Amino acid sequence: MMDSKLVLVVVLALLVVSASSKYVRPPPRKTLHFPWDPKPSSYPQQVHISLAGAKHIRITWVTSDRYSPSIVEYGTSSKNYTSTARGENTSYKYLLYRSGTIHHTVIGPLHDDTLYFYRCGREGPEFQLKTPPSQFPVTFSVAGDLGQTEWTKTTLAHIDQCKYDVHLLPGDLSYADYIQHRWDTFGELLQPLASRRPWMVTQGNHEMENIPFLKDGFLPYNSRWKMPYSESNSTSNLYYSFDVAGVHVIMLGSYADYDKYSDQYRWLKADLSKVNRRRTPWLLVLFHMPWYNSNEAHQGEGDEMMETMEPLLHAACVDIVFAGHVHAYERSKRVFNGRSDRCGAVHITIGDGGNKEGLAHEYKEPQPGWSVFREASFGHGEFKIMNSTHALWRWHRNDDDQRVTSDQVWIISLFGSGCLLKKNGELRKILVEP
Ligand SMILES: *[C@@H]1O[C@H](CO)[C@@H](O)[C@H](O)[C@H]1NC(C)=O
Ligand SMILES: *[C@@H]1O[C@H](CO)[C@@H](O)[C@H](O)[C@H]1NC(C)=O
Ligand SMILES: *[C@@H]1O[C@H](CO)[C@@H](O)[C@H](O)[C@H]1NC(C)=O
Ligand SMILES: *[C@@H]1O[C@H](CO)[C@@H](O)[C@H](O)[C@H]1NC(C)=O
Ligand SMILES: [Fe+2]
Repeated sequence: MMDSKLVLVVVLALLVVSASSKYVRPPPRKTLHFPWDPKPSSYPQQVHISLAGAKHIRITWVTSDRYSPSIVEYGTSSKNYTSTARGENTSYKYLLYRSGTIHHTVIGPLHDDTLYFYRCGREGPEFQLKTPPSQFPVTFSVAGDLGQTEWTKTTLAHIDQCKYDVHLLPGDLSYADYIQHRWDTFGELLQPLASRRPWMVTQGNHEMENIPFLKDGFLPYNSRWKMPYSESNSTSNLYYSFDVAGVHVIMLGSYADYDKYSDQYRWLKADLSKVNRRRTPWLLVLFHMPWYNSNEAHQGEGDEMMETMEPLLHAACVDIVFAGHVHAYERSKRVFNGRSDRCGAVHITIGDGGNKEGLAHEYKEPQPGWSVFREASFGHGEFKIMNSTHALWRWHRNDDDQRVTSDQVWIISLFGSGCLLKKNGELRKILVEP
C-alpha cells in the first residue's frame, strides 16, 4: 500500500519536473563536410531564385568558367522551353580567392502560382520552380542565422516539408567568415530548396567581411545574393521591399546607416508612404538585430536603430517584425516603446537556423511582460496568412531531428483590428517631417 503510494508520488513529481523544465539542447553539431566534386566548368551550380518585381523572378547561378552565357530557358512543361531570357554576370576577387562567374537572369512575366521548368546557361539539369500565389492564402517559412552544420541540414529538411511559397531570412547566411569557398558550399547546400522557391534575404553581421582599405565587407554577399532593390527604388542591396499576394515585406539593413539623415531612413519613409493596405493588408518587416530581446545574448545592440525607426514602423502599423542574431526563439505581444500596445508590432526573434556558434541559452529573469514565449532551440517558423485579417504562426523546434510544433498562435492583422483608421493621421504627420 505504502509502496504504490510512494510510486505514485514519485511519478507525479517526475511529471511536474518534466513539464516545467526547459528543453535543453545538445551542444552544437559539426560543420558539414563537402567532398570535392569537380564539375564541367560550364555546369550551373549554387542555383537560387528570388522575387524580382511583380511577376518576375531572378535566377542566380555560378559557373567556374567565364564563357557560359547568362541565359535561362523556361516553360510550363518539362524539357519544352517556350521562353528565353538573357541576364548579366559578375565575379569578385577576395585576397587569393577568385569567385566563379555569378549569373543573374530575370525571367518573366510569369503566371502566378504556377510550376515552371528551367535550365541555366543551356547546360546541366532541369530545375523546377513555383511562383507565389497572387491572393491569400500565402505561406512564408522563416529562419535566420543558418550556417552550414548538421543542424542546418535538419532545419532545411523541415523547411522543405512545410509547403511554403517564399522563404524569409533575417540575416546571417553562410557563416563563411572571410573563407570565401564556404559561400560556395553554402550555395550548394541551399540549392535543392532555393532553386524551387524564392529565398528573400537581408544581411547580418556575418555578411560583413571587411578588410580595412581593401575590401567593402558586403562584396561577397552583394555579388551572390542580389535582391530586388532597384525594383523597389532603393539604391542599396542592403534594404528593399516587395509584394507577394496581399503582403508588403520590407527588408531593412541593421548594418547600413539608419539615422534620420540616412538614405535608408529616407527610402523607408518613401516606401511606407506608398503601401496601400487595401491591396496589401499585411505589412512585415525584417532585419537582423532584434529590438525586443530578453536573451542575455546581444542585449541592447538593436536599441539605437529601434529609437530611430520604431516610431515610423508604429505609425505605419507594421504587423510583424522578424529578427535574427540571437540564436534562439522569442515571440512578443504587440508592443511599442518597450510596452504592450494593441496597435504595435509582434516581434519575433528567430535566429535559430542551426549555425556553428550554437545556441544562446541564458535568459534575463524575470521574463519581461512583453515577452510571451522564449526558448533556446534550433528550428524554423511557418507563417500562413489565410486572408486579410487572420494568420497562423507556428514555430517548429528541431527537437532531436523531429519536426515538433512548439509555439502556435493566431495573429489578427492591424488592418483587421481597426488600428489603421486610428493611426492614419500619425503616419501622415511623420511622413511630412523633415
Ligand atoms: C559578362 O559580363 C560582361 C560585362 O559585364 C560582358 O562583357 C560579358 O560578355 C559577359 N559574359 C558572358 C559570357 O555573357
Ligand atoms: C510545348 O509547349 C507548347 C506551349 O505550351 C505546346 O503548344 C506544345 O505542344 C508543347 N510541345 C510538346 C512537344 O510538348
Ligand atoms: C519607383 O519610382 C518610379 C519613378 O518615380 C515609379 O514610377 C515607381 O512606381 C516606383 N516603384 C516603386 C516600387 O515604388
Ligand atoms: C479569415 O480566416 C479565418 C481563419 O481561417 C476565418 O475564421 C475567417 O472567417 C476568415 N475571414 C474572412 C473574411 O474570410
Ligand atoms: Fe548575427
